[in-house]
Amino acid sequence: MSAKGKPVQYAYVNNRVQKFSHREIGVTHVLVTGGAGYIGSHAALRLLKDSYRVTIVDNLSRGNIGAVKILQGLYPDPGRLQFIYADLGDAKAVNKIFAENAFDAVIHFAAVAYVGESTLEPLRYYHNITANTLTVLEAMAAHRVKTLIYSSTCATYGEPEKMPITEDTPQVPINPYGKAKKMAEDIILDFSRNSDMAVMILRYFNVIGSDPEGRLGEAPRPELREHGRISGACFDAAAGTISGLKVKGTDYNTPDGTCVRDYIDVTDLVDAHVKALAKAMPRKVGIYNVGTGKGRSVKEFVEACKKATGVEIKVDFLSRRPGDYAEVYSDPSKIRRELNWTAQHTNLQESLETAWRWQRTHRNGYGPPLAAAS
Ligand SMILES: NC(=O)c1ccc[n+]([C@@H]2O[C@H](COP(=O)([O-])OP(=O)(O)OC[C@H]3O[C@@H](n4cnc5c(N)ncnc54)[C@H](O)[C@@H]3O)[C@@H](O)[C@H]2O)c1
Repeated sequence: MSAKGKPVQYAYVNNRVQKFSHREIGVTHVLVTGGAGYIGSHAALRLLKDSYRVTIVDNLSRGNIGAVKILQGLYPDPGRLQFIYADLGDAKAVNKIFAENAFDAVIHFAAVAYVGESTLEPLRYYHNITANTLTVLEAMAAHRVKTLIYSSTCATYGEPEKMPITEDTPQVPINPYGKAKKMAEDIILDFSRNSDMAVMILRYFNVIGSDPEGRLGEAPRPELREHGRISGACFDAAAGTISGLKVKGTDYNTPDGTCVRDYIDVTDLVDAHVKALAKAMPRKVGIYNVGTGKGRSVKEFVEACKKATGVEIKVDFLSRRPGDYAEVYSDPSKIRRELNWTAQHTNLQESLETAWRWQRTHRNGYGPPLAAAS
């Protein structure tokens, strides 16, 4: 019986109580949107390890069912992990998911997330990031889900004049990706002013690395390589998938002329989410930078990647790419003070070694192993 004396309604799947559809004392059920993707899959793994109940919703447009299968293999027990294939752009489907599941919290990772692509396809970015966040928020409000952790980005700051970036640095995004994320943040903040929702907005810097135990990795679609991130390009060059690395821009106002970024290991990043989840308070909004506080140049990154892979990667230095900014690194003191979080995996080479171990043994990502060359 429920607290109000009415019989509790359970949904049955194959004659088994569908644990995901009702609340259970002592169990926190987290909806992880984009959980088949790079960061979302690592976050789901950590949540499962910490005994959370996890529902992944993903349309597999960019993520990998292979990552979900690894998680399902590790946590096969009923009520631990379910995967729902759905597009967050489909408000009816999203509403149905919220109606059929008893979520305690949402970590909203799902997004298209390439700066370069956003300049070519801005409408896609506003739809996928801004409009879909509104859909998720409306479903949370309608179904009284009280905690939201939102994946935001340092791209919402644009190119500030002063470094390091604090949470009070004005947000002046300079590309559609950053603008779409800023708009999503604004929607969440406006909603939160008149609601008892607990909100945490995490603004990540550049995410690298992978699961130290080698179960998960970063495996973007091959067609996204051209928009891809520097670590993927370094590994592709080291593996011989591409002939070398193209470093775009050597005349930036930085110590060695190449762009400076703050690289945060995915293991640390997901730890920040777990801490944010634990400290989320009704009617409160927490906004945090998640970075190491240290900027590294692209040249430094490439050197670390050469050492991590043991390959003398060929590097071509080219002119700047539109939409890039010279220098970006965080001031992580607020998250240290308020969430007791600091980056632990700050050795670039070690993070890249971990990621390379997975890349080397998963040349086809989560797909079947590639046949050996004859
Ligand atoms: N990777 C970084 O360096 C970085 C930095 C800052 C912020 N972020 C943010 O972190 C989040 C996760 O990024 P990632 O690097 O893991 O990207 P990813 O592409 O690996 O994962 C995104 C996931 O979202 C899913 N998805 C996209 N649109 C969807 C939709 N309409 N419905 C359902 N699922 C959908 C994709 O299939 C994919 O599995 C994003 O919000 C991104 O903006 C990433």
